[in-house]
Amino acid sequence: MPMLEVQNLNVRYGQLEAVRGVSFNVEQGEIVALVGSNGAGKSSTLKALIGLEPVAGGRILFEGRDIARLGSAARVSAGLSLSPEGRRLFGRMTVLDNLMAGAHTVGSRANVRARLDEIYALFPRVQERRAQLAGSLSGGEQQMVAIGRAMMAQPRLLMLDEPSLGIAPKIVAEIAGAIQRINRESGIAIVLVEQNARLALRLAHQAHAFEHGQVVRSGKGEDLLADPFVQKAYLGV
Ligand SMILES: Nc1ncnc2c1ncn2[C@@H]1O[C@H](COP(=O)(O)OP(=O)(O)OP(=O)(O)O)[C@@H](O)[C@H]1O
Ligand SMILES: [Mg+2]
Repeated sequence: MPMLEVQNLNVRYGQLEAVRGVSFNVEQGEIVALVGSNGAGKSSTLKALIGLEPVAGGRILFEGRDIARLGSAARVSAGLSLSPEGRRLFGRMTVLDNLMAGAHTVGSRANVRARLDEIYALFPRVQERRAQLAGSLSGGEQQMVAIGRAMMAQPRLLMLDEPSLGIAPKIVAEIAGAIQRINRESGIAIVLVEQNARLALRLAHQAHAFEHGQVVRSGKGEDLLADPFVQKAYLGV
């Protein structure tokens, strides 16, 4: 059984059908990339998966259970979490308080401590800056905090919306390395939404290209990297 099965997902904003019949699976331990141009429906898909936008149609099976009508807190408790596009940190709160904002579903203090230690091992800069206001950090550091906050919930499936957006290339490489470590060392499945299609397809086991709310190409990351349509549309080849 796949870990996540998205079947015929629809998301609407009034008359606009932002996501139209999207289906894909995520297997245990996989990195799945969703790529596509602006407005293609990638963020809407992630928001519908975590419960921040209502599902207008279709099913979302997580570990065999249909979660499409659960609230987002219940989905986080079930094992999903999202690091949203644009990071959405509380700029006037400390880094540590931002991380703690992701810890509502984590029971004991010992477990919270263990979560923090894991995140600090992944991102030593986050530990260095834990007492600073989040708004005073660089964009790349803020992105690390946003990923860390999503990791606090101890997800089995982590969704990352545009982790490289607006970040210096050196830091992008650092964040890409962290994404791979999260996947390999903790065995967490990842859905990675990226405008940087080259980066996402390199990291991904499976990938899906979105256009106008629909999946138009699917395959292994390496196969999509070699696909002439994908190269022309997203890789500038
Ligand atoms: N809250 C909203 N209300 C109305 N329309 C919206 C809303 N959010 C997104 N849309 C529209 O839905 C469509 C899909 O948007 P979405 O943000 O899912 O795309 P995306 O693939 O994440 O794009 P980007 O790469 O720019 O982040 C777009 O036409 C967008 O304008
Ligand atoms: Mg988006």
